[in-house]
Amino acid sequence: MLVAPSILSADFGNLANEIKAICDAGCDLVHVDVMDGHFVPNMTIGPVVVEPVAKVASKPLDIHLMVENNTFFVDLFAPCKPLYISFHIESEKHPHRLIQKIRSYGIKPAIVLNPHSRPQEIEYLLEDLDMVLLMSVNPGFGGQKFIPSVVEKAKELKELINKRNPNCLIEVDGGVNDKNIEILKNAGVDIVVAGSYVFGSDDYEKAIKSLKI
Ligand code: DX5
Ligand code: ZN
Repeated sequence: MLVAPSILSADFGNLANEIKAICDAGCDLVHVDVMDGHFVPNMTIGPVVVEPVAKVASKPLDIHLMVENNTFFVDLFAPCKPLYISFHIESEKHPHRLIQKIRSYGIKPAIVLNPHSRPQEIEYLLEDLDMVLLMSVNPGFGGQKFIPSVVEKAKELKELINKRNPNCLIEVDGGVNDKNIEILKNAGVDIVVAGSYVFGSDDYEKAIKSLKI
């Protein structure tokens, strides 16, 4: 299992040290949540913060867009050179076009599904994707309770992935901790995002290790 701590739960007054600490503690990706105050009822950070974060991080960035105007935000964050940019299917009318745009920047495209969205909806996009991110909470805030139906959804998605593009990874985001990591692993999940579980612990290395099963 790969682990991507979400910096939404980091101490923003001490951000550079927090990023260094999770990278030194053995995380695989640094998950950056971008919220526009429209698609979700919260706002976070722009490139003015993410660019220095990218400089300090020794691990690649995983940018999760929770926005209405995806094209604008892809152009805005591409210079930060993340490994992944993921966008929500619920806010995108032309997903194929946006996937091509993300790839044209040399960035791996991923699609996010909210807890209510069906994996079948993106079946014909799978061959063009490097990753699918399944939300296991309603997007917008850290520290929420895990929605268990994501486990069944991950299994369904895994079957579609096996059929259409076995190289596509599955990531799960929201309420992940040492109690639900095993069922996620068994469901075929490759990467977990963990915000409050990692940053709320007093030993980042131990917390990350407990998810790397
Ligand atoms: C929620 C974000 C998550 C969030 C996860 O909208 O996408 O990445 O930070 O936080 P936890 O792990 O605390 O649920
Ligand atoms: Zn996220």
